[in-house]
Amino acid sequence: MAKILNYGSLNIDYVYEVPHFVTPGETLQSKGRSIFAGGKGLNQSVALARAGGDVYHAGAVGKADGQLLINVLTENKINSEFLKRRNEASGHTIIQVDDNGQNCIILYGGSNQTITTEDIDETLSHFEKGDYLVLQNETNNIESMINKAYEKGLKVCFNVSPYSDELLKLPLDKCSYLIVNEIEGSSMVSKPADTDPYELIDELTKKYPNSSFVLTLGSRGSILKQVGCDPISCKSFKVQAVDTTAAGDTFLGYLITNLATGMNPALAIKCATAASALAVQTKGATPSIPKANAVLDFIKKSKVDVLVDKL
Ligand code: RIB
Repeated sequence: MAKILNYGSLNIDYVYEVPHFVTPGETLQSKGRSIFAGGKGLNQSVALARAGGDVYHAGAVGKADGQLLINVLTENKINSEFLKRRNEASGHTIIQVDDNGQNCIILYGGSNQTITTEDIDETLSHFEKGDYLVLQNETNNIESMINKAYEKGLKVCFNVSPYSDELLKLPLDKCSYLIVNEIEGSSMVSKPADTDPYELIDELTKKYPNSSFVLTLGSRGSILKQVGCDPISCKSFKVQAVDTTAAGDTFLGYLITNLATGMNPALAIKCATAASALAVQTKGATPSIPKANAVLDFIKKSKVDVLVDKL
């Protein structure tokens, strides 16, 4: 089985339950606070592993406060031999979750921003052609990660979140998979945010012809467009969301492991969609990521055909 290396962020999420997102000048009483292990990188590693992948997580946590994050890697049988311990505090977030389960997030990078080119060289020396590298935009030195992994023949899967136009300077043409939402995708090709998703995929594939795309469309669903193949469209399952945090990470982790283990792409995206439908029904980031047997049960019980010709 190909190894999956996630060079990714790990954050301590401070989650506040609020009636609505705080507005300028307002002091808002929260209804509750919880502390969860999160970070796009860690969430994705947990989903990659729970889907059945052989997962390695590299990155950096704080010596003083990182144990909560390391425990999650261990509990999920994710190899952490390439994870560094730093003097800087671990990355953390302040997350507001409103009564509709929607969130907004303030991110502090902390030790996620301390990855050196030496760390990257050493870590990548343990991986080879055909292995996967999963990245998100919450760590530093991403350019070097992409370039070195590409030189070695790894398949680079880059989730461009959180997006900034600076990302366009990265060697994105070296990524095998680019995972974008509609706002990120339209910014990448200078199109309006409400561009038709299939037109958007055409524009993205024109600009990056060697990359496959995963376009996520929130509650509408998602589209997988692999190089040389027709797009596969998948509607969302209709469920009641209590917390959408990590739903996208769950989707991505399941999709990449399923593709890396040779699952048929249509089934791979359907399972990933089911996994994220389960994730939004539980509070917190890593605690909400389902196990593979729960995902299969959910698909068996659901009578809806989510694979469609067009969204
Ligand atoms: O995608 C959700 C994650 O984004 C949270 O766990 C938080 O840490 C932020 O990185």
